[in-house]
Amino acid sequence: MRPPSDYIVFPLDVPDRAAARGLIERLADKVGLFKVGLELFIAEGPAVLAMVNDLAGPGRIFLDLKLHDIPATAGRALRSAASLGVRFVTVHAEALVGLGDWITQARQSGLTVLAVTVLTSLDEAALIELGYREELADPSVLVAMRAARAKESGCGGVVCSAREAEAVREMVGPEMVIVTPGIRPEWTLVEGDDQARVMTPKKAIEAGADYLVIGRPIRDADDPGRAADRVAREIEVALSPGRPE
Ligand code: C5P
Repeated sequence: MRPPSDYIVFPLDVPDRAAARGLIERLADKVGLFKVGLELFIAEGPAVLAMVNDLAGPGRIFLDLKLHDIPATAGRALRSAASLGVRFVTVHAEALVGLGDWITQARQSGLTVLAVTVLTSLDEAALIELGYREELADPSVLVAMRAARAKESGCGGVVCSAREAEAVREMVGPEMVIVTPGIRPEWTLVEGDDQARVMTPKKAIEAGADYLVIGRPIRDADDPGRAADRVAREIEVALSPGRPE
């Protein structure tokens, strides 16, 4: 069985390497993966990935670049990512068309591609504005279609809202990884929170998530290490129904 802390993906949403280093040192034995996104990667480049590998140990990087380009370009980017010791990399579901061979190649070199189904910042009105027909503008319908597409394309998993995790699990089966952001423990309050569709760690695990992206509730806590332990404890309870909380 995986240890509960393994389910936690901590986003290094900081502007530079020094700030990232402090967080990795505090949390390396409290979380499973460190997510490097556009802000940090654009500022620091692949050197920051080498630093995460050095400090946290190999196989713990979630490179969240949400690639979205023609297959040759996105595919070559996957090949570059595979050479950097990255475990997961994200690709927009719309970019999956024609990318299957590249995804297979990435998998053969140890890199798992995750499809971002629909950005959680897009609601029905936004999708209609972007040109989607009304019957497809329900985000949960699009998420389900794209999760199926991700599976066909050879992706190892999908990123979706925890609220959609149950339906996605039904669609993709037990093998694929489901990653859910927008996680908020009940004991946390994020100042000016921009995550609208949130779920607790316990509920997300019960809905079938394999990895929970949890940033501010840990980062902004007085003691981030303790906050991560508290999340892990909640995950442990969810993984063992019947165990006292
Ligand atoms: O827990 P918190 O809201 O601070 O986590 C923010 C992180 O989750 C960011 O790195 C952001 O990119 C990521 N994320 C998100 N919503 C998505 C996908 C990823 O907030 N749909």
